[in-house]
Amino acid sequence: MDYMSSVLIVGGGGREHAMVKALLRSDHPLCMYAYPGNPGMQNDGCTLVDGTIKSWNELAEWVDKNEIDLTIVGPEAPLVEGIVEIFKKKGRAIFGPGKKAAQIEGNKAFAKKFMKKYGIPTAAFSVFDNKDAATAYVKKMGAPIVVKASGLAAGKGAVVCETLKEATDAIGSMLDARVFGEAGSTVVIEEKMTGEEASVFVLADGKSYKILPVSQDHKRIGDQDTGPNTGGMGAYAPCPLVDKKLLAQIEEEIIVPTLDGMKKDGFPYHGLLYVGVMVTESGPRVVEYNCRFGDPETQAVLPLVDCDWYELFLACATGRLSSVKWHVRPEYCVSVVLASKGYPGKYEKGKLIGGIEKAEGHKSNVDVYHAGTALNKDGQIVTNGGRVLTVSAWADSISDAITEAYEAVGAIHFDGMTYRKDIAAKGMARVKKNKEAESVRTK
Ligand code: AMP
Ligand code: GLY
Repeated sequence: MDYMSSVLIVGGGGREHAMVKALLRSDHPLCMYAYPGNPGMQNDGCTLVDGTIKSWNELAEWVDKNEIDLTIVGPEAPLVEGIVEIFKKKGRAIFGPGKKAAQIEGNKAFAKKFMKKYGIPTAAFSVFDNKDAATAYVKKMGAPIVVKASGLAAGKGAVVCETLKEATDAIGSMLDARVFGEAGSTVVIEEKMTGEEASVFVLADGKSYKILPVSQDHKRIGDQDTGPNTGGMGAYAPCPLVDKKLLAQIEEEIIVPTLDGMKKDGFPYHGLLYVGVMVTESGPRVVEYNCRFGDPETQAVLPLVDCDWYELFLACATGRLSSVKWHVRPEYCVSVVLASKGYPGKYEKGKLIGGIEKAEGHKSNVDVYHAGTALNKDGQIVTNGGRVLTVSAWADSISDAITEAYEAVGAIHFDGMTYRKDIAAKGMARVKKNKEAESVRTK
């Protein structure tokens, strides 16, 4: 029997709850903590860390005092702020990239220049901190064009502009009105690419890497990809858009040069590298890098991988990734986000949530992950955010996974519950098309 290890999860969204459930499925006995965590993580046995802790230095002191074996960081902000360096100074194992490597998400201008230096395929771009120069550039290039705040803008910093007016307005809002504060004091203006997107997750330990099943997010609020962008309304994995051949191309043209370039530039990558890829007519190109797992893609990816997740996260943090064994089950996982009415705009909080236990039933292939939830004064679970829950279900076929996920969704209710009805529909259509193509080939 392994000895009991202690783990701290930093974050409190669906992604972090999915990490907790994956860790619980491992054989390794664990004592789990979360900061700040959520009621779902607490239900699963995580102890929520004292809310009076207000800085990463204070959290590192708490970790040191409580001799936590491994800290796993979910969101980007702590990584960009340098949590990894603070914990390492105390000699504590932590999963995630250092501050410099986290710049690939925290500083888009840096990421684009890095890609250019190493010949990694991405949209053509220019960087500006002056409104007149930026405006002159978009007038020269014409619409459509994409305007992005260079810094962290909570997923709202990229504006895909169909007209010149939209582009000049976006430039004005970022460089003049500073709607994203300092994050928008530099803008990246880039060519608009056309194609379907996929999320490629790569685990890396500074020396070797492993690619997780590729997933696909659903960014728009409405069915058929309509309405405003959100943090993500659902995901599924594996994504049939990226077949073996395309994945090999992504690995050769994007993943290997990215990890090698980071090594050469003195910031070898540790943790999870999220490569947002657009599959264009001229091949796969990088839309963005993120320095952490995606949400809700993680909720669709982790349930498909059988391994000792504690060992895997620890191996990444300590440079032993190549020694870890895992098994990816040949199944599909579909994850549906349940949001508050009004999201991604204004929404109300405090609505009673019912049916979570019924949704999970006693099924081993359905999980409900908490995100924007809280306990009211009577200890009942209520809504407390835009994205409230993610429901994930996995099965042998994509159509069964979709059916199971929506059956579980049907058991959950709260006032104003909003969700997309077409999560993984694009994937199912492609699976069908690929099968037809296969049968034509084998006839
Ligand atoms: P980002 O914040 O860079 O991830 O961008 C958010 C979303 O905007 C992406 O997932 C894409 O759907 C879209 N997007 C960003 N950059 C481009 C681009 N150069 N061409 C087309 N769409 C883009
Ligand atoms: N789902 C997109 C992201 O995590 O950035």
